[in-house]
Amino acid sequence: MTGAIPSMATLGILAALPDEIRDLLYEMGPAASTRRIGMRDYHHGVLYGRPCVLALTRIGKVAAAATTATLLREFDVDRVVFTGVAGGLDARLRVGDVVVGSALVQHDLDASPLFPRHEVPLLQTSRFPADEALAGLLHRCAGEFLAQHGGGAALHRGLIATGDRFVHEAGFARELREALPEALCVEMEGAAVAQVCHEFGVPCAVLRTISDCADQDAPVDFATFLREVASVYSAGILRRFLAALPA
Ligand code: ADE
Repeated sequence: MTGAIPSMATLGILAALPDEIRDLLYEMGPAASTRRIGMRDYHHGVLYGRPCVLALTRIGKVAAAATTATLLREFDVDRVVFTGVAGGLDARLRVGDVVVGSALVQHDLDASPLFPRHEVPLLQTSRFPADEALAGLLHRCAGEFLAQHGGGAALHRGLIATGDRFVHEAGFARELREALPEALCVEMEGAAVAQVCHEFGVPCAVLRTISDCADQDAPVDFATFLREVASVYSAGILRRFLAALPA
Protein backbone atom coordinates (compact mmCIF):
# COMPACT_ATOMS: atom_id res chain seq x y z
CA MET A 1 0.00 0.00 0.00
CA THR A 2 1.23 3.52 -0.73
CA GLY A 3 0.14 7.11 -0.26
CA ALA A 4 -1.03 9.08 2.75
CA ILE A 5 -1.79 7.37 6.03
CA PRO A 6 -5.58 7.30 6.61
CA SER A 7 -7.00 8.30 10.00
CA MET A 8 -6.55 5.39 12.31
CA ALA A 9 -8.39 2.79 14.29
CA THR A 10 -5.76 0.88 16.28
CA LEU A 11 -2.04 0.42 15.76
CA GLY A 12 -0.48 -2.95 16.58
CA ILE A 13 3.04 -2.65 18.01
CA LEU A 14 5.10 -5.84 18.12
CA ALA A 15 8.57 -6.65 19.42
CA ALA A 16 10.36 -9.93 20.11
CA LEU A 17 11.70 -9.28 23.60
CA PRO A 18 10.61 -7.33 26.70
CA ASP A 19 13.67 -5.03 26.57
CA GLU A 20 12.58 -3.80 23.15
CA ILE A 21 9.28 -2.29 24.38
CA ARG A 22 9.77 -1.93 28.14
CA ASP A 23 9.39 1.86 28.11
CA LEU A 24 6.34 1.83 25.82
CA LEU A 25 4.58 -0.70 28.01
CA TYR A 26 5.31 1.40 31.07
CA GLU A 27 3.93 4.48 29.31
CA MET A 28 0.67 2.68 28.50
CA GLY A 29 0.09 2.72 32.23
CA PRO A 30 -2.37 0.92 34.47
CA ALA A 31 -5.40 1.84 32.30
CA ALA A 32 -4.30 -0.71 29.68
CA SER A 33 -6.24 -3.96 29.56
CA THR A 34 -4.45 -7.23 28.94
CA ARG A 35 -5.76 -10.33 27.16
CA ARG A 36 -3.72 -13.53 27.24
CA ILE A 37 -4.08 -15.68 24.13
CA GLY A 38 -1.80 -18.53 23.04
CA MET A 39 0.81 -17.79 25.73
CA ARG A 40 1.08 -14.11 24.68
CA ASP A 41 -0.12 -10.97 26.49
CA TYR A 42 -1.85 -8.38 24.28
CA HIS A 43 -1.94 -5.00 26.04
CA HIS A 44 -4.73 -2.78 24.73
CA GLY A 45 -4.50 0.89 25.68
CA VAL A 46 -3.62 4.38 24.58
CA LEU A 47 -0.15 5.69 23.76
CA TYR A 48 0.29 9.40 23.02
CA GLY A 49 -3.44 9.67 22.32
CA ARG A 50 -3.52 6.73 19.88
CA PRO A 51 -5.27 3.41 20.55
CA CYS A 52 -2.64 0.67 20.43
CA VAL A 53 -2.23 -3.04 21.08
CA LEU A 54 1.24 -3.93 22.28
CA ALA A 55 2.48 -7.54 22.27
CA LEU A 56 5.67 -9.55 22.49
CA THR A 57 6.11 -12.14 19.75
CA ARG A 58 9.12 -13.90 21.31
CA ILE A 59 11.99 -14.89 19.02
CA GLY A 60 11.73 -16.54 15.60
CA LYS A 61 9.48 -16.68 12.57
CA VAL A 62 6.87 -19.12 13.88
CA ALA A 63 6.46 -17.17 17.12
CA ALA A 64 6.20 -13.89 15.19
CA ALA A 65 3.71 -15.26 12.64
CA ALA A 66 1.47 -16.77 15.34
CA THR A 67 1.42 -13.53 17.34
CA THR A 68 0.70 -11.42 14.26
CA ALA A 69 -2.18 -13.65 13.14
CA THR A 70 -3.74 -13.47 16.61
CA LEU A 71 -3.24 -9.70 16.75
CA LEU A 72 -5.02 -9.26 13.42
CA ARG A 73 -7.86 -11.71 14.16
CA GLU A 74 -8.62 -10.78 17.76
CA PHE A 75 -8.09 -7.01 17.81
CA ASP A 76 -9.32 -4.23 15.57
CA VAL A 77 -5.82 -3.44 14.38
CA ASP A 78 -5.56 -1.64 11.04
CA ARG A 79 -1.77 -1.31 10.81
CA VAL A 80 1.26 -2.91 12.42
CA VAL A 81 4.73 -1.73 13.36
CA PHE A 82 7.46 -4.14 14.49
CA THR A 83 10.31 -2.68 16.51
CA GLY A 84 13.52 -4.27 17.74
CA VAL A 85 17.21 -4.88 17.18
CA ALA A 86 19.13 -6.48 14.31
CA GLY A 87 22.62 -7.54 13.32
CA GLY A 88 24.31 -5.35 10.71
CA LEU A 89 25.21 -7.16 7.46
CA ASP A 90 26.13 -4.25 5.23
CA ALA A 91 29.66 -3.07 6.01
CA ARG A 92 28.46 0.54 6.35
CA LEU A 93 26.26 -0.27 9.36
CA ARG A 94 27.45 0.49 12.89
CA VAL A 95 26.05 -0.44 16.29
CA GLY A 96 23.43 2.21 17.14
CA ASP A 97 22.43 2.87 13.51
CA VAL A 98 18.75 2.54 12.67
CA VAL A 99 17.26 0.64 9.73
CA VAL A 100 13.73 1.16 8.44
CA GLY A 101 12.76 -1.78 6.22
CA SER A 102 11.70 -1.05 2.66
CA ALA A 103 11.08 -4.79 2.13
CA LEU A 104 11.59 -8.06 4.01
CA VAL A 105 12.89 -11.44 2.85
CA GLN A 106 13.27 -14.84 4.55
CA HIS A 107 16.94 -15.62 4.03
CA ASP A 108 16.48 -19.24 5.16
CA LEU A 109 13.51 -20.12 2.95
CA ASP A 110 14.67 -22.41 0.17
CA ALA A 111 12.21 -24.68 -1.63
CA SER A 112 14.49 -24.97 -4.67
CA PRO A 113 14.44 -26.56 -7.17
CA LEU A 114 10.63 -26.49 -6.85
CA PHE A 115 10.65 -22.71 -6.43
CA PRO A 116 13.40 -20.12 -6.72
CA ARG A 117 15.49 -19.70 -3.57
CA HIS A 118 13.82 -17.29 -1.06
CA GLU A 119 10.47 -17.36 -2.91
CA VAL A 120 7.48 -18.04 -0.66
CA PRO A 121 5.82 -21.03 -2.35
CA LEU A 122 2.50 -20.17 -4.01
CA LEU A 123 2.76 -16.46 -3.19
CA GLN A 124 5.14 -15.94 -6.13
CA THR A 125 7.25 -13.44 -4.27
CA SER A 126 10.34 -13.48 -2.08
CA ARG A 127 9.97 -9.93 -0.75
CA PHE A 128 7.21 -8.31 1.22
CA PRO A 129 7.35 -4.55 0.79
CA ALA A 130 6.74 -2.41 3.85
CA ASP A 131 3.88 0.05 3.61
CA GLU A 132 5.49 3.14 2.08
CA ALA A 133 3.56 5.69 4.10
CA LEU A 134 4.20 3.95 7.44
CA ALA A 135 7.86 3.32 6.62
CA GLY A 136 8.26 6.91 5.41
CA LEU A 137 6.88 8.29 8.65
CA LEU A 138 9.04 5.91 10.72
CA HIS A 139 12.07 7.04 8.71
CA ARG A 140 11.29 10.72 9.37
CA CYS A 141 10.74 10.11 13.09
CA ALA A 142 13.89 7.98 13.41
CA GLY A 143 15.85 10.78 11.72
CA GLU A 144 14.49 13.34 14.20
CA PHE A 145 15.30 11.04 17.13
CA LEU A 146 18.86 10.33 15.93
CA ALA A 147 19.53 14.02 15.28
CA GLN A 148 18.80 14.70 18.97
CA HIS A 149 20.01 11.51 20.69
CA GLY A 150 21.92 9.46 18.11
CA GLY A 151 25.45 10.73 18.79
CA GLY A 152 26.37 10.43 15.11
CA ALA A 153 24.48 7.18 14.40
CA ALA A 154 23.18 6.86 10.85
CA LEU A 155 19.75 6.10 9.44
CA HIS A 156 19.24 3.59 6.60
CA ARG A 157 16.33 2.34 4.56
CA GLY A 158 16.43 -0.93 2.65
CA LEU A 159 16.05 -4.70 2.62
CA ILE A 160 15.89 -6.60 5.93
CA ALA A 161 16.69 -10.34 5.96
CA THR A 162 14.87 -12.61 8.42
CA GLY A 163 15.64 -16.18 9.45
CA ASP A 164 15.58 -18.62 12.34
CA ARG A 165 19.23 -18.24 13.20
CA PHE A 166 21.19 -15.81 15.37
CA VAL A 167 24.08 -14.83 13.06
CA HIS A 168 27.43 -14.73 14.83
CA GLU A 169 29.85 -16.55 12.50
CA ALA A 170 31.81 -14.68 9.85
CA GLY A 171 31.34 -17.53 7.38
CA PHE A 172 27.57 -17.53 7.59
CA ALA A 173 27.38 -13.74 7.51
CA ARG A 174 29.49 -13.82 4.32
CA GLU A 175 27.13 -16.39 2.76
CA LEU A 176 24.19 -14.12 3.57
CA ARG A 177 25.93 -11.11 2.00
CA GLU A 178 26.61 -13.14 -1.13
CA ALA A 179 23.08 -14.51 -1.39
CA LEU A 180 21.40 -11.17 -0.59
CA PRO A 181 23.89 -8.39 -1.40
CA GLU A 182 21.34 -5.62 -0.86
CA ALA A 183 20.30 -6.79 2.63
CA LEU A 184 21.24 -4.21 5.26
CA CYS A 185 20.69 -6.28 8.39
CA VAL A 186 19.56 -9.64 9.72
CA GLU A 187 16.95 -10.44 12.36
CA MET A 188 14.51 -13.23 13.23
CA GLU A 189 10.91 -11.99 12.91
CA GLY A 190 10.31 -9.16 10.42
CA ALA A 191 9.55 -11.10 7.22
CA ALA A 192 7.17 -13.41 9.09
CA VAL A 193 5.20 -10.41 10.41
CA ALA A 194 5.25 -8.83 6.95
CA GLN A 195 4.01 -12.03 5.27
CA VAL A 196 1.08 -12.43 7.67
CA CYS A 197 0.18 -8.74 7.31
CA HIS A 198 0.34 -9.12 3.53
CA GLU A 199 -1.97 -12.14 3.67
CA PHE A 200 -4.48 -10.22 5.84
CA GLY A 201 -4.16 -7.04 3.73
CA VAL A 202 -2.92 -4.96 6.68
CA PRO A 203 -0.13 -2.37 6.15
CA CYS A 204 3.00 -2.93 8.18
CA ALA A 205 6.48 -1.51 8.72
CA VAL A 206 9.63 -2.71 10.51
CA LEU A 207 12.07 -0.61 12.53
CA ARG A 208 15.41 -2.09 13.64
CA THR A 209 18.29 -0.67 15.64
CA ILE A 210 21.66 -2.29 15.01
CA SER A 211 22.77 -4.08 18.20
CA ASP A 212 25.74 -5.99 16.73
CA CYS A 213 27.52 -6.68 13.46
CA ALA A 214 26.52 -10.36 13.08
CA ASP A 215 30.07 -11.45 13.92
CA GLN A 216 31.87 -13.28 16.75
CA ASP A 217 31.17 -10.37 19.14
CA ALA A 218 27.44 -10.45 18.38
CA PRO A 219 26.27 -12.41 21.46
CA VAL A 220 27.89 -9.93 23.89
CA ASP A 221 27.10 -6.80 21.86
CA PHE A 222 23.49 -7.96 21.43
CA ALA A 223 22.93 -8.56 25.15
CA THR A 224 24.51 -5.25 26.20
CA PHE A 225 22.63 -3.21 23.62
CA LEU A 226 19.36 -4.91 24.47
CA ARG A 227 19.75 -4.23 28.16
CA GLU A 228 20.98 -0.65 27.89
CA VAL A 229 19.72 0.97 24.68
CA ALA A 230 17.03 -0.92 22.74
CA SER A 231 13.98 0.23 24.66
CA VAL A 232 15.10 3.86 24.70
CA TYR A 233 15.43 3.86 20.90
CA SER A 234 12.09 2.08 20.33
CA ALA A 235 10.22 4.39 22.68
CA GLY A 236 11.96 7.55 21.45
CA ILE A 237 11.19 6.84 17.79
CA LEU A 238 7.69 5.41 18.26
CA ARG A 239 6.69 8.30 20.53
CA ARG A 240 7.36 10.69 17.65
CA PHE A 241 5.69 8.31 15.19
CA LEU A 242 2.50 8.01 17.27
CA ALA A 243 2.28 11.76 17.76
CA ALA A 244 2.61 12.28 13.99
CA LEU A 245 -0.03 9.71 12.95
CA PRO A 246 -3.30 11.20 11.69
CA ALA A 247 -5.91 11.14 14.52
N1 ADE B 1 19.06 -9.70 16.06
C1 ADE B 1 20.02 -8.92 16.57
N2 ADE B 1 21.25 -9.34 16.20
C2 ADE B 1 21.04 -10.44 15.44
C3 ADE B 1 21.90 -11.34 14.78
N3 ADE B 1 23.22 -11.20 14.84
N4 ADE B 1 21.35 -12.38 14.09
C4 ADE B 1 20.00 -12.53 14.03
N5 ADE B 1 19.14 -11.72 14.65
C5 ADE B 1 19.65 -10.68 15.34
